Amino acid sequence: MKSAVVYYSWTGKTEAAAKILQELTGSDLFKLEEAKPRKSSTPGFLGACFSALMGGKSRLKPLAADLKAYDTIFLGTPVWAGHSVPAINAWISDSELKGKKIYLFVTQGDKKVPQAVFDSLKLRTEAHGGKVMDSTFIQTVMKEPLDGEKARPVLADWVRSLEG
Ligand SMILES: Cc1cc2nc3c(=O)[nH]c(=O)nc-3n(C[C@H](O)[C@H](O)[C@H](O)COP(=O)(O)O)c2cc1C
Repeated sequence: MKSAVVYYSWTGKTEAAAKILQELTGSDLFKLEEAKPRKSSTPGFLGACFSALMGGKSRLKPLAADLKAYDTIFLGTPVWAGHSVPAINAWISDSELKGKKIYLFVTQGDKKVPQAVFDSLKLRTEAHGGKVMDSTFIQTVMKEPLDGEKARPVLADWVRSLEG
């Protein structure tokens, strides 16, 4: 019984949430990295939105470890243009998730529940054999780092609710 936190983060907020979750759950941490780094310019932003909207899949750097040994995965993604991001899309489509329990965590600017993102991630992870057990999201502020003071209790409550 091993758990992993697998995430993608462009501007560091999902990464900060992932690290808090790692601490709270004693999981191993795996960062998904795109082979081609994104440019933080207006064209870079628009390209990211377009690719997410189209359900794009990016080329990923290989992960340092095999996830076969893990039966529980916390999967973290930001929202781009109302969708999951190309790195996460690629990871799901390349992964064998049979028998794995999946817990989704999302960060986004919007305060509304990202239900369409949850639904779409569930559909795709379950098509690859995983079982989505629960999901949560954290609202972030675009130009600021994740507010750990706010995020930690939200994530701690979530983890407690999963144990109970
Ligand atoms: C290209 C791009 C598109 C975004 N689109 C949305 C969106 O449609 N809805 C939303 O709530 N937030 C949106 N955001 C805000 C991010 O989801 C939010 O800042 C997230 O926490 C970033 O995570 P990261 O720092 O791990 O990359 C967008 C951010 C970027 C960079």
